[in-house]
Amino acid sequence: KKRQNAIICSAVIEQGVSESGSRLSRIESLSQVSGVLGCQWGDEGKGKLVDILAKHFDIVARCQGGANAGHTIYNSEGKKFALHLVPSGILNEETICVIGNGVVVHLPGFFKEVDGLESNGVSCNGRILVSDRAHLLFDFHQVVDGLREAELAKSFIGTTRRGIGPCYSSKVIRNGIRVSDLRHMDTFPQKLDLLLSDAASRFKGFNYSPDMLREEVEKYKRFAERLEPFITDTVHFMNDAISQKQKILVEGGQATMLDIDFGTYPFVTSSSPSAGGICTGLGIAPRVIGDLVGVVKAYTTRVGSGPFPTEILGKGGDLLRFAGQEFGTTTGRRVVINGFSSLNLTKLDVLSDLQEIQLGVAYKQIDNTPIHSFPSDLRLLEQIKVEYEVMPGWQTDISSIREYSELPKAARNYVERIEELVGVPIHYIGIGPGRDALIYK
Ligand code: GTP
Repeated sequence: KKRQNAIICSAVIEQGVSESGSRLSRIESLSQVSGVLGCQWGDEGKGKLVDILAKHFDIVARCQGGANAGHTIYNSEGKKFALHLVPSGILNEETICVIGNGVVVHLPGFFKEVDGLESNGVSCNGRILVSDRAHLLFDFHQVVDGLREAELAKSFIGTTRRGIGPCYSSKVIRNGIRVSDLRHMDTFPQKLDLLLSDAASRFKGFNYSPDMLREEVEKYKRFAERLEPFITDTVHFMNDAISQKQKILVEGGQATMLDIDFGTYPFVTSSSPSAGGICTGLGIAPRVIGDLVGVVKAYTTRVGSGPFPTEILGKGGDLLRFAGQEFGTTTGRRVVINGFSSLNLTKLDVLSDLQEIQLGVAYKQIDNTPIHSFPSDLRLLEQIKVEYEVMPGWQTDISSIREYSELPKAARNYVERIEELVGVPIHYIGIGPGRDALIYK
């Protein structure tokens, strides 16, 4: 019988350590300001953990990215919600959701999400605060995203084409438009004209006309009015909340391997989904950040383009993508850096059918020279040899198990070997998509 393999690449989760399980002790012992961050290439299942933790926090905040995150969460009746911009804490009535200054906000998408939540009985009024410093992502940023990908042809980045990169480019080149600019509709048209003219001069395929500007300005006048109750100086709000000892959970989008600095550049996102992004994206000090939970799938897949040393093509890979619903809600495609205090290993259930699991434990160069850290050089990464440890699978359905001790021995061995290799305790284990399908270790 053909061997089916699952692979986790330990080299992508190089992280720091600290030590602390019952459900409540795991959740309640999290520090006043905690964060949930992705360890791989996104779609790890961060949304579910944030949703579970949210009701124990006063505030859930997003610090980076935009509607390129695609968190799938379920309410207590099992209803599915796909959130892109609104923080996953929104399903818990008591939670205040903050969209921080580091986030790029596409208002048509934001209001669509708000309308969808409200029509399903989730009240958003007064519960979502949008930073006055956040940058606005316009439809044209999305058009430009597509044009740039087309221009790159075979070297395309594999973006979500949601305009995230072009919006961050506007921000960094310093002609971006921020949420607070919506309060000055007298100067807004000139600023937008500058942005659109820039895009038109850069991309032949971008047709810019005075009508386009007029229509966009009219649309944004209406948005400005509707957004006003949401607009907040979130830097002040967050720091005030910290001094009032409120509990804050930071919800990361994407993941460390997609970090603009630490990911597989250029096949990355345009923000910092790792720990540093929390400070710059919310305006809070590093010393207030306590626990950081890294979310990592029990195997590795990646979305977009770029090298991925443990990629399995063929039957094994197809099985994983199918079983793990690897066509994430947004993309439909397939860490010393963070100092994680614990990990959430997700989708362990996906490996249940496998006879054997291959655990990637080290990278080597073609000539067998060991590589001690994740290489920045993509050429080297493409040629890398991965050293595997073969572990027996458990071949039993584990999706209804709720106690760690009841997991098959082979599954526990797998979990504990990962802990040993990365040096970080695994406190949460996902064994299904549902809210309750989590084992506290
Ligand atoms: P991004 O921010 O886009 O990276 O997404 P994410 O990390 O929040 O991932 P998302 O919540 O979209 O999860 C991806 C898919 O995995 C969804 O369909 C989830 O329901 C599913 N999922 C989450 N945890 C588990 C798990 O433990 N087992 C299984 N089988 N599916 C899970």
